[in-house]
Amino acid sequence: MYDFRPDPALPKPELYRQLHGAVAALTDGEPDAVANMANVAALMWAFVPDLNWAGFYRVANREGGGRELVLGPFAGRPACIRIPFGTGVCGAAAASGATQLVPDVHAFPGHIACDAASRSELVVPIARDGKVVAVIDLDSPTPARFDSEDAAGIEALAALLAGRL
Ligand code: SME
Repeated sequence: MYDFRPDPALPKPELYRQLHGAVAALTDGEPDAVANMANVAALMWAFVPDLNWAGFYRVANREGGGRELVLGPFAGRPACIRIPFGTGVCGAAAASGATQLVPDVHAFPGHIACDAASRSELVVPIARDGKVVAVIDLDSPTPARFDSEDAAGIEALAALLAGRL
């Protein structure tokens, strides 16, 4: 049994340091990408307060050519399955390779509302050999929930996971 009991009152850098340690330990030596994403989604859900969705979209080849994002393991409500590159917050992160920190999802052009409760969002690409292979998506019901410390914490996870997916 894995019993992680993070203290939500911890300062963010310490909370993300502990999350990173838990992810490093649980994915160590495990080559199965789905298993690793499933455990990391559960860990993000447990460690990061005030979320209504936490999970992954993977880059996949689209029937007929091109690439798109396909839903991966997550915690939260059932979500949109396929997202075109360049569409919504996740598609913008995948197309640009850059973290998307969105304080107000209603102000983001093309935002895809999988859960009407979402008010702010953080999406971090995971890149391997210079190519985006997946994105980490966190949604919150609180406006402007995420800041640069959240982005830095999730970017560190993305760097760790690049070799483990
Ligand atoms: N809001 C995202 C879609 C994914 S759900 O939030 C889980 C977007 O605009 O890309």
